[in-house]
Amino acid sequence: MSSENASKTLAVINCSQVVTLAGPARPRVGPELRELGIVAGGALFVRDGLIESIGTAREIEALIEAETEVVDGGGRIVLPGFVDAHTHPVFAGTRVDEFEERINGATYQEIAARGGGIQSTVNRTRAASVDELVATGRRYAQWFLRGGTTTVEAKSGYGLSLEDEIKMLRAIRRLDEETSLRYVPTFLGAHSFPPEYRARRAEYVSLLIDEMLPQVAQQKLAEYCDVFCEEKVFTTDESWKILTAARCHGLGLRMHADQLSLSGGAKLAAELGTVTADHLEHTDAAGIAALKEAGVQPVLLPGSVYALGSTHYPAAREMIDAGLAVVLATDFNPGSSPTPSMRMILSLAATHMKMTPAEAITAATINAAYSLNRGDRIGSLERGKIADFVIHECDDYRELAYFFGIQHPFGVYVRGKLSHG
Ligand code: NIG
Ligand code: FE
Repeated sequence: MSSENASKTLAVINCSQVVTLAGPARPRVGPELRELGIVAGGALFVRDGLIESIGTAREIEALIEAETEVVDGGGRIVLPGFVDAHTHPVFAGTRVDEFEERINGATYQEIAARGGGIQSTVNRTRAASVDELVATGRRYAQWFLRGGTTTVEAKSGYGLSLEDEIKMLRAIRRLDEETSLRYVPTFLGAHSFPPEYRARRAEYVSLLIDEMLPQVAQQKLAEYCDVFCEEKVFTTDESWKILTAARCHGLGLRMHADQLSLSGGAKLAAELGTVTADHLEHTDAAGIAALKEAGVQPVLLPGSVYALGSTHYPAAREMIDAGLAVVLATDFNPGSSPTPSMRMILSLAATHMKMTPAEAITAATINAAYSLNRGDRIGSLERGKIADFVIHECDDYRELAYFFGIQHPFGVYVRGKLSHG
């Protein structure tokens, strides 16, 4: 396969399953999460980067023109590209030293309390130039693509000053323009209190509201605003102020909620009607009911539970049973979840959260796309949608959640163009 001389039309034939995720034009809930719209032995036809047709091998073969690039699926499966709806993919350095400290007994919170954790990545990210952030970001972009992810939501939050937050968002914009991966930018200036404001919390909240948000909105550097709402980080009152201001600037709202403790995050998300509430490891039944009532999508991040050595996974089954449109994401970041692998997330969701492979795949594609306001363009393989698809090295979709620790799609296509394979 070659991406050179890309023809305007492309056919993928000889597949064991085309897992379309076709269905109602809205996020999937309850038993709908198990309906993958599989076309057994199906094939796919793409024109100018958009899906023109999905059907039986015979139907698609009839559409093939002289210049059509024909890809032999070799009995493999085709799926929409994964949509990773919660990542922190721009940062300088790593936290391997703290990783080792945690192995030796220190906790994530203890490390944060002594100025490590998020703050150590902030120190390195502040010292880096946009070019440096783009260079490391490109490496991670390749990791996402190689794993079959074609769109990521990307948060700032390691700058924590006007200048450094803008620098991060500019790096995200450049990565979107310069790589095949698509980025949806989120402003997370409320990720932590920087040391210079720790004794002056109200002033940092004012800086966020009066200076950072207006600049971010004016320069159109973000579509969403997120806050790390947690005991000892941003209180529910502070989170409310920041998110309400963000809404006035036209930004969509997301929240890190109830990650390390039950701190009222889910309830606040429901009260504000945020688009998503993310993490939710400690959310109780009342919080789940409130999210349902308000139509907030939960974004579950089992990679961070696993990597922090916890067993306190979010209550995915209860959320599905309550009718929530569950999303799964990696939370890729240098501290709590250093994985870009949606395959790993499917495995964790199946094994530890008792989501079936079908439910996990729906949560990682179409539901994730809706949580990013892109459900009409990506997340499923349907006529007219963008041809972001992946040929996976297996013949049954359940293998995606079953085999773990391997990461090798046969081909990853973004807008009908081979981007990895
Ligand atoms: O989603 N919870 C806050 N933010 C990240 C962690 C970021 C970091 O440790 O650098 C998270 O887990
Ligand atoms: Fe996060």
